[in-house]
Amino acid sequence: MQIKGRVLSVASECVPLIKTGGLADVVGALPEALARIGWDMRVLLPAYRALQRYLEDMDEVWFEPGLFGGDARVMAGKVGGLDVLLLDAPHLYDREGGPYSGPGGDWFDNARRFAALSWVGARIARDGLEGWKPDVLHAHDWQAGFAPAYLMYGGTGGVGSVLTIHNIAFQGWAPATALGDLRLPYEQFYPAALEYYGGLSSLKAGLVTADRITTVSPNYAAELMRAEFGMGLQGVIAARGADVSGILNGVDTGVWSPGAEPIAYSAKAMQGKAANRAALCAEFGLQVPGPLAIVISRLTDQKGIDLLPGVIPDFIAGGGGLVVLGSGDPALEAAVRSLEARFPDQVAVRIGYDEALSHRMFAGGDAVLVPSRFEPCGLTQMYGLAYGTVPVVSAVGGLADTVINASPAAMAVGAATGIVFHPVDGLAFGQALRHLLTLYADKTAWAQVQKNAMRQPVDWAGSAAAYAALYEDLRA
Ligand code: ADP
Ligand code: GLC
Repeated sequence: MQIKGRVLSVASECVPLIKTGGLADVVGALPEALARIGWDMRVLLPAYRALQRYLEDMDEVWFEPGLFGGDARVMAGKVGGLDVLLLDAPHLYDREGGPYSGPGGDWFDNARRFAALSWVGARIARDGLEGWKPDVLHAHDWQAGFAPAYLMYGGTGGVGSVLTIHNIAFQGWAPATALGDLRLPYEQFYPAALEYYGGLSSLKAGLVTADRITTVSPNYAAELMRAEFGMGLQGVIAARGADVSGILNGVDTGVWSPGAEPIAYSAKAMQGKAANRAALCAEFGLQVPGPLAIVISRLTDQKGIDLLPGVIPDFIAGGGGLVVLGSGDPALEAAVRSLEARFPDQVAVRIGYDEALSHRMFAGGDAVLVPSRFEPCGLTQMYGLAYGTVPVVSAVGGLADTVINASPAAMAVGAATGIVFHPVDGLAFGQALRHLLTLYADKTAWAQVQKNAMRQPVDWAGSAAAYAALYEDLRA
């Protein structure tokens, strides 16, 4: 196939190398989806300690002396079919811990660590590697936010830039005094440019300098322009209105498909789902006469997990059950654990991160609960659709874009794919769970919603085409 263009993607996470959330899934899935329609994408990531093992099979393609306190090199190679560029800068990334934090909390120098990634991304975009020159720089979230800024301030070399917002809650804040250290021009420190409430924000820097801005669902693109969701950046985003668009995430249907599970099933042959359910109940010693709900999530305020203790007892009394897999805020971990202690036959909680268990849960669960306060896109409700694990979601962000509420009208026309509630509070969530109990009890209606859900396209095809059109525009 003829190459339509080349894109350098700059990000802090990418499946299968390193993941803390959906950002990694998206950064990892896009290159393959775009390759199918002729785009050549390489992903630049920091060589965290956990990624050092890949370096020995890679080739050095770039040397960057004196990168924020030490020399660095960029190593290129293939990992699981992906063309990866790893920024090997041991003074910044070779540390015990996760991408953003170590044993003592967030790394003190995160602003520099990700400014360094962005700096090298901008340089490679501008100058190209030997034999590979990108047309477009695609920066993801605050970690890559300075990349379009460095590109603009240092000369774009004809390269277009796009910044994708995966989550506005993380803004990459740094004090104004860091300006020089972060290699940013002093004359750009004013409100319409780099200044952000007296300091700096790498996300804002990207928002004011990227040629285009995208976010991960159309609804979130609209929400971001309002104070309720914009978290201080609503004015900046609204001012760029014409350059802002929402492109819904997809799901890697090679990985997330009920047909690919050990006990396989499909919309036409649902017996396997019952077997998966029985296996999941057996694994956790649960006895659940009604719908078995699952939650697979970071346990944070964003995800509305604090609403569970208020609504789950009634749901349990109505015959429902719950399996929770997640980790995060210790208070929320304790809150879900106390539900498990109170209802040992109907609630099970696993604190931690477990990809294999998450698959067993989607295959065996009846419904997936996503009561988020805000949700740029959300992936778990889409896995739920694909698995006929009916999503029960709040009407925010990408959740509202992907799930159709089982209202009488939607049921009548055969469009309903889940249960959608609003506002995001215990009353509405509790009502949604009562709706789940009655819907589940009506076997014909339930089967219909499951079928509708499984028919929804959740793959990357449509969204990859939308990104391709955007890249095409930027090149023109
Ligand atoms: P976010 O990126 O805000 O965390 P998303 O719904 O976009 O939310 O993506 C979350 C991703 O992380 C999904 O792929 C989900 O299955 C996965 N995930 C979250 N928590 C866990 C966990 N404890 N174990 C396994 N997978 C998890
Ligand atoms: C963020 C958002 C989530 C989205 C993911 C991938 O982590 O919280 O809604 O699906 O990024 O874009």
